[in-house]
Amino acid sequence: MISLLVAYARNQVIGKDGTMPWHLPADLAHVKALTTGKTIVMGRKTFESLGRPLPNRRNVVLTRNRDFHPEGVDVVHTKQEVLELGDVIIFGGAKIYKQFLDVADRLYVTEIDLETEGDTFFPAWDREAFALVDKREGVVDEKNRYPHTFYVYDRIAGTSQR
Ligand SMILES: NC(=O)c1ccc[n+]([C@@H]2O[C@H](COP(=O)([O-])OP(=O)(O)OC[C@H]3O[C@@H](n4cnc5c(N)ncnc54)[C@H](OP(=O)(O)O)[C@@H]3O)[C@@H](O)[C@H]2O)c1
Repeated sequence: MISLLVAYARNQVIGKDGTMPWHLPADLAHVKALTTGKTIVMGRKTFESLGRPLPNRRNVVLTRNRDFHPEGVDVVHTKQEVLELGDVIIFGGAKIYKQFLDVADRLYVTEIDLETEGDTFFPAWDREAFALVDKREGVVDEKNRYPHTFYVYDRIAGTSQR
């Protein structure tokens, strides 16, 4: 099963200057709950923006650089190698999402109602190929200042490009 996890603001902004242009602890908690004990797959740039592997889960990093061997992560060099890993959660960024959207079985999308300038965007996706299976409004409070909604979409059978 290939799941894909993303948080985006208005206009599908996911990043700016190599990082995420918002602070939303509720989404970090959501990410932790979904990925702990699982395998997450991220691009080399996203890994460098985190600066370290996330604890208590398997961190897989995609890079074309054969000399990249950071501690605490498994490095792969092709999309095919990722597909052979079995159950994975695609963790971004944009370049990685683009390559796995057509084969993802499930999307976990956090929509943040925030107008923010970005330089990295979630790709346009085929909404006809997915069915909404869960929607939960996040709680706005002093620590989580932007309205946000957690969505889960499952792929409609027969639409995967895998
Ligand atoms: N809002 C969110 O949910 C979210 C989630 C994750 C990331 N982000 C943001 O997204 C931005 C980073 O995204 P990005 O698109 O610039 O970079 P990225 O997707 O994280 O990483 C791109 C890199 O991955 C490697 N790569 C990509 N496809 C590959 C393939 N088929 N085979 C081997 N290696 C491959 C290459 O590494 P090499 O150059 O080393 O070969 C490439 O330069 C940051 O701003 C980050 O904060 C946001």
